[in-house]
Amino acid sequence: MKFFIDSADIEEIKHAAKMGWVDGVTTNPSLVAKSGKDFKTLITEICEFISGPVSAEVLATDYEGMVKEGDQLSTIAPNVVIKLPLTEDGLRATKYFFDQGVQTNVTLCFSPLQALMAAKAGATMVSPFVGRLDDVGTAGMGMVSEIRQIFDNYGYETEILAASLRHPMHVLDAALIGADIGTLPFKTLAQLVKHPLTDRGLEQFIKDGQNLKV
Ligand code: E4P
Repeated sequence: MKFFIDSADIEEIKHAAKMGWVDGVTTNPSLVAKSGKDFKTLITEICEFISGPVSAEVLATDYEGMVKEGDQLSTIAPNVVIKLPLTEDGLRATKYFFDQGVQTNVTLCFSPLQALMAAKAGATMVSPFVGRLDDVGTAGMGMVSEIRQIFDNYGYETEILAASLRHPMHVLDAALIGADIGTLPFKTLAQLVKHPLTDRGLEQFIKDGQNLKV
């Protein structure tokens, strides 16, 4: 399973990259706005030290606008992935980028059928938003499971990028289902290696180790 960091904070992304288990980055307009940085400068900066996929989202909502913005974003670096919304125009643009050999991440997916349509349009990745479905009282992970089944039934190569994962249980469930990628905020990424028994055991070993004759 690949892990992407869901962040537009350069320091956080650098820290995560040093940890050694980050395979890529996803950003979204809300995260970029929070960073206070110019969008293209930020994506350029991230691509200077991240060689895996870096998702950059278009702001346009019409086909022509998405193609124009995506064409510009894809000149930043070869690992930039054009992030497009799961709408009729977004899927048209997905097909356009597929024909150009440019990678895409179809975002804001909230149903298995939407994911199927993204796969049919040639999306490289599709992002089902688990946490946001949970927020409205619907089991987000059930959607990921159904997408896995549909893609396996037909052999679609579109990768399932489980998104809006907010805690380690989300990550565990996504891994058990077989999501190809999970995108996580820095905090959740760091939580994945934590266990109180590891800390307690280490503390004891250090203490006992002091009495060893060497
Ligand atoms: C993914 O690409 C999104 O940026 C992200 O996972 C959304 O997460 P949120 O619902 O916690 O904002």
